[in-house]
Amino acid sequence: MDTKNGVDLSQLHKAFDLENPEAYAAWRRSKLAMSPRAGAVPVIQVGDLSQPVESEKKAILAQVSESNFAIYQARRFSADEDEVGAELRRFTDAFGLRIAEAHRSAGNNGVVALKVSMAEHQRGFIPYSRKAMNWHTDGYYNSEADTIRAFVLHCVRQADIGGQSQIIDNEIAYIRLRDANPEAVALLMDAQAMTIPESPEADGTVRPVSIGPVFFIEDGRLIMRYTARTRSISWKNEATQKAAALLQELLEAERDYLHTLTLQPGQGILNNNTLHNRTAFDPNADIGASQRMLYRIRFHNRL
Ligand SMILES: [Fe+2]
Repeated sequence: MDTKNGVDLSQLHKAFDLENPEAYAAWRRSKLAMSPRAGAVPVIQVGDLSQPVESEKKAILAQVSESNFAIYQARRFSADEDEVGAELRRFTDAFGLRIAEAHRSAGNNGVVALKVSMAEHQRGFIPYSRKAMNWHTDGYYNSEADTIRAFVLHCVRQADIGGQSQIIDNEIAYIRLRDANPEAVALLMDAQAMTIPESPEADGTVRPVSIGPVFFIEDGRLIMRYTARTRSISWKNEATQKAAALLQELLEAERDYLHTLTLQPGQGILNNNTLHNRTAFDPNADIGASQRMLYRIRFHNRL
């Protein structure tokens, strides 16, 4: 049996086969039963951010195997924010995660500081503003070779008001869509389903066009490439666009498995690139005055 963390991958692969409703039904039952409900995700305590011990790692990985994400709270971390970035790298190294990209905003450690920024290369980009962000997976505009399979979001300082994170497990999103309309799943698995056009980068380079599916299966696992954005995106045809609109409706209607939290300093979400969004924050602060800062690192491999 081909297993990973106790999951039988050949069975998982069958569950994602639209021609195999029996395998899907069996997997769906167990997935919905094991997935934590809204408000019931444990916060896993980690003594030292830079050095998670075996039992802490085990607890995090067990949670990820159920829901594709885990929330942790580090008790000890540096008071120096640059040092926290290095500690976070040691934390993710302990899970065997490999840095994905030389992101234009990344420091030496692949750590991107998400904060309100007036820097020329970040100004005007929503992640570096106080604005809300729609449902998406990270790196949906990347080429296939640069697929993001995991990332960590770690809080250095929270906002005064707002800045909540919301999460839906990709497998729950898949279940909702397949239950509503299996044909929509088929349309979004098409290799040409979603196109993100090329886009000029602040450093003068051009990010090439990215064409690919929304859902795809890799090594028996479900991977998602998704954004709810409506500008600078095109769908293969009208039917595909309707399927994407249905998916967005279902995400917005989700309650049972919708996870909402405001990360506190030392807290983070380690995840297999699950769907997430954030609410707007610090509406009354002067532009640039919000202190909210989260670190993010993206990875090529999954947990
Ligand atoms: Fe994101």
